[in-house]
Amino acid sequence: MLLPCLLLSLVTGSFTSRIIQSAGDPDSHLESLRGIVEGPLAGWNAVLYLDPSLEPPVWECVRGLLAGRNASHVLVDLGSDGALWSEGQPVDLLRGAFMVHVVVFQDDPRPFFEAVSLQWNPQYLLFFSVSNETKKALLLDDTFKGVERLLLVEKTSLKDPGSEPTSGMFTSFPFEARKIKLIGSWDDAAFPSREDLFVDRFESFRGYEFQLGTSLDDYPYLYKSKTKPKGYGDGVEVEMLDAMARVLDFKYNLTAEAPDRKWGAFENGSWTGMLGMVHRKEKNFTVNYFSITGERVDAFDASVSYWMEGFGMSMLSPPPLPKWRGVYYPFTPSVWLALTVTFVLVLIIMSVQDNMQPVPFLGGVGSTWPYLLRAMFNNSIPRLPKAQWQRLFVGTWLLYCFIVSSAFTANLVAFLTIPIFPERIQTVKELAKSDYRWVCMFDYGEFVPGALRSSQDPHYKALGEKLDLFSAYGACVKGMRERTHANIESYSYNLILLFVDYKVKNSYMLSEQLYPSYLCWYFQKNTAWKYKFNHGLRRLVESGLVEYWVKIKTEDFLGRGFERRQQLQDTERDIQALSLEHLQGVFFLLAMSWAAGGLVFAAEVLRHRCPMRVTIALRRPSAGNSENT
Ligand SMILES: *[C@@H]1O[C@H](CO)[C@@H](O)[C@H](O)[C@H]1NC(C)=O
Ligand SMILES: *[C@@H]1O[C@H](CO)[C@@H](O)[C@H](O)[C@H]1NC(C)=O
Ligand SMILES: *[C@@H]1O[C@H](CO)[C@@H](O)[C@H](O)[C@H]1NC(C)=O
Ligand SMILES: *[C@@H]1O[C@H](CO)[C@@H](O)[C@H](O)[C@H]1NC(C)=O
Ligand SMILES: *[C@@H]1O[C@H](CO)[C@@H](O)[C@H](O)[C@H]1NC(C)=O
Repeated sequence: MLLPCLLLSLVTGSFTSRIIQSAGDPDSHLESLRGIVEGPLAGWNAVLYLDPSLEPPVWECVRGLLAGRNASHVLVDLGSDGALWSEGQPVDLLRGAFMVHVVVFQDDPRPFFEAVSLQWNPQYLLFFSVSNETKKALLLDDTFKGVERLLLVEKTSLKDPGSEPTSGMFTSFPFEARKIKLIGSWDDAAFPSREDLFVDRFESFRGYEFQLGTSLDDYPYLYKSKTKPKGYGDGVEVEMLDAMARVLDFKYNLTAEAPDRKWGAFENGSWTGMLGMVHRKEKNFTVNYFSITGERVDAFDASVSYWMEGFGMSMLSPPPLPKWRGVYYPFTPSVWLALTVTFVLVLIIMSVQDNMQPVPFLGGVGSTWPYLLRAMFNNSIPRLPKAQWQRLFVGTWLLYCFIVSSAFTANLVAFLTIPIFPERIQTVKELAKSDYRWVCMFDYGEFVPGALRSSQDPHYKALGEKLDLFSAYGACVKGMRERTHANIESYSYNLILLFVDYKVKNSYMLSEQLYPSYLCWYFQKNTAWKYKFNHGLRRLVESGLVEYWVKIKTEDFLGRGFERRQQLQDTERDIQALSLEHLQGVFFLLAMSWAAGGLVFAAEVLRHRCPMRVTIALRRPSAGNSENT
């Protein structure tokens, strides 16, 4: 985003007229200012802070510099109100590397900068002092502690006090014993680029011990170490910290949990949990499971993202279907329907064909259907029709029956022994529409419950309405075991919690995740040395180490090849012998057929016994007719 208007003069009337005045010869110190602005800083956008008490020669020099400059610049009056000024400025101007900030001053500029908003945090800040007294105290001042690259240029007499004063360049190294160091004196040839001018102040942390606001209950990222003494952690974050600690030379001290036992959210006007500790400046940064959100980025400095994860929903696998259903499972309902329709059609055609023969081959529907069914059940056919065309028809029917019955028997063995599961819920939409009464979550101050309830998405909102908050995991898992609840928790943690802590073996994670987001570390707002960690995190991500550690640490809990085993468990079981339960379906069929047979038999007996005469009487005339024709 480019600034809409880069030339933004905040100069007052007298201020402008002062610049135009001209007097005196430029001294060597002012020549250095010209050298810096036209040398390493040429072409860079700049914010120039000018002290109203500068002397006329300085104004003259500055005026000349501005006239010759190519890049955009913003002028700021150090005598104005810093709070008022910073309020109206775009973020690109106040923060980051888009502009180089240059302060030219005679009197102490601190009052202005103490008033600016928290958003003010340039990456490059240059103090150019025209005062005769040393201003080195500025380099260690808390007001400028968040600036990544800091430089002070002031008059010094380097060799002996009698000689011509040169412009000394100083910077501070906060992690070193002799904190303020002279980098050199200005020389037009010695500092060709901006990076030469602004040296890296945090090359090493010199064994500094950082205080981390953490919670050691965050599988697989950060948890209490099983092998090391109390207070030590283990997990993905520890691996990352250790790897960086070796390169950057720092130590760290973890916190077991936040004093208020919360995770970290903005509540009632203040930050709670681990983020609260960092915000109150009790701790330097936090490395737990925190995703990047706009609200947090406003109040903290976020590192680059190192991993992506969302909230996972876990629930029990639905119970397998009853085993007797294995009998009809080889075919889908539509195949069964097609088979029935085909049979009825063939039966009708066969009966019609039979009726058209001079001498009926089978004689009526009553004997046609058992004849057709024989082939279906792999029984031989006692005799074939005499007419060639009818033989052809029966022949194709036999082929059809052969294929269908082979397919059925081949599948049957498999379906009898493997448990058949109904379709699982896999997405938020399916869960929202399912008859699951509740979803539950352990309420430790995450943003998810609030976000779900106020979601625009109808399915997320439906979940929010079903949400049941518990004050412990136990209650939540109990609900899950009773198949009334689905449990929401950050994906990896959820997995480990269920399989390791609660040993719920027959559960699964929905494949869709809620709020998938980028994880990062949160530092105090305006942390000058954060970029060192950004650099380290990027290296770890790009080398694939973070991904590797997430896998390794998860497997520490779940065992190797967990995912594969989980998948296998659903599709394939150990070889099983057929039990009575598996064959239940066959016996059902047998019983039903016998019942049907019994019914038909009873009906026939009744027909032959009681109304025999009536039937005979009814039949006679028709029999006579047929004989006549
Ligand atoms: C200004 O910038 C343009 C493009 O970057 C360059 O061609 C030109 O020479 C510059 N002029 C001066 C005076 O530096
Ligand atoms: C600074 O020193 C110069 C000579 O080195 C002197 O002329 C000038 O008056 C001094 N200014 C102040 C404010 O002390
Ligand atoms: C580091 O943490 C331990 C507790 O784990 C604490 O006793 C110790 O004082 C901490 N060190 C510092 C320097 O704060
Ligand atoms: C926030 O305020 C509400 C109402 O005043 C109160 O019920 C709640 O406990 C407060 N939360 C925190 C974390 O202080
Ligand atoms: C780290 O935090 C401690 C407070 O726990 C603070 O005293 C110290 O200055 C911080 N260190 C840095 C480098 O900011």
